[in-house]
Amino acid sequence: PVTAVVIVAAGSGDRLGYGMPKARVPLGSDAILTHALRGVAAAGVARQICVALPPGDAVLQELCAAFAEELRAGHDANQQNPLPVLTTVDGGATRAASVRSALAALLDGTEAVLVHDAARALTPEYVFHRVVDSLAAGAVAVIPAVPVVDTVKMVTPTTGDDSSIAPELVTGTAPREELRSVQTPQGFRLSTLIQAHQAAADFDGKQAAAVTDDAMLVELLGVPVHAVHGSTQSLKITTPLDLIIAEGLLEGPLG
Ligand code: CTP
Ligand code: MG
Repeated sequence: PVTAVVIVAAGSGDRLGYGMPKARVPLGSDAILTHALRGVAAAGVARQICVALPPGDAVLQELCAAFAEELRAGHDANQQNPLPVLTTVDGGATRAASVRSALAALLDGTEAVLVHDAARALTPEYVFHRVVDSLAAGAVAVIPAVPVVDTVKMVTPTTGDDSSIAPELVTGTAPREELRSVQTPQGFRLSTLIQAHQAAADFDGKQAAAVTDDAMLVELLGVPVHAVHGSTQSLKITTPLDLIIAEGLLEGPLG
C-alpha cells in the first residue's frame, strides 16, 4: 500500500524535565527527533513523512528542513525507493489531536499510515518492516508489541482504617502471558484510522486523557487489531532513566 509515516513530536516532555520539547532534547550528538527521522527514512517504507511539531517551534522546523536536505543529499536517483516528501504540521494539545492534524495533511492517494512516536527514536528498521508487511498481507490495524516483564496487578485506594496500613489494596492479578506492552509504529488502513479519530474528536477531557495510543480508538470501532513482535530497543524515552538507556543503546545496540 502507498504508505505515509506520521511522527508525533509535539509533546512537551514534562517527565523528561529538560525544560524544552522532548523532540529537541539531545541524544548522543543529535536531537531525539533527528534520530526518529533517520530511523523512519532508513526503513524506506514511506512516500511521505509528516511530522507534528509544537506550534511555532522554529528550532524543530529548522531541524526538519535540515533533515530534508540531508535526505536529498543522500538520495540516489537510481534507488528503488523514491525520495519521501517531508511535511510538518502544528501538533495539538493531546497526542491524538497531533495525530489528527497530521492525518489532515497526508497526500492524496495515501492508502496506509504508520503513526510513530518521536520519543521512540531508536526503533529498529525491522519493526517498521514487520508492520508494513502485515498491512500488505491484509491487516487493517497492526501494532508492535513485546511481552510484559513485570507482574501487573489491579489496585484500588484504601479507605477508612485500612488507609493507615497502606495507600492501596490489591484487587487482582492480570494473567501476564496474555499481556503485551505496545509500541509504535502502529499501522492502519488510512480510512479506518481517520474514522477512528473522527469518533474521538469530541471526547470529553476525561475520555481524551485516557487515549494513549491509536489502536485503542480503532478497537472501539470493533475492527480487529493485530500484533507483531516489537523490540525492546523501541523504548519510549519518557524519563531521565530512559534517556540514559537510549544513550547506552547508541554505544552498541542489543543483538
Ligand atoms: N505528542 C504529541 N502531541 C502532544 C503530546 C504528545 O505529538 N500533544 C507526542 C510526543 O511528542 C511523543 C509521543 O506523542 O513523541 C508520546 O508522548 P509522550 O511520551 O507522553 O511525550 P510528551 O507528551 O512530550 O512527554 P510528557 O507526557 O512527559 O510531557
Ligand atoms: Mg505526554
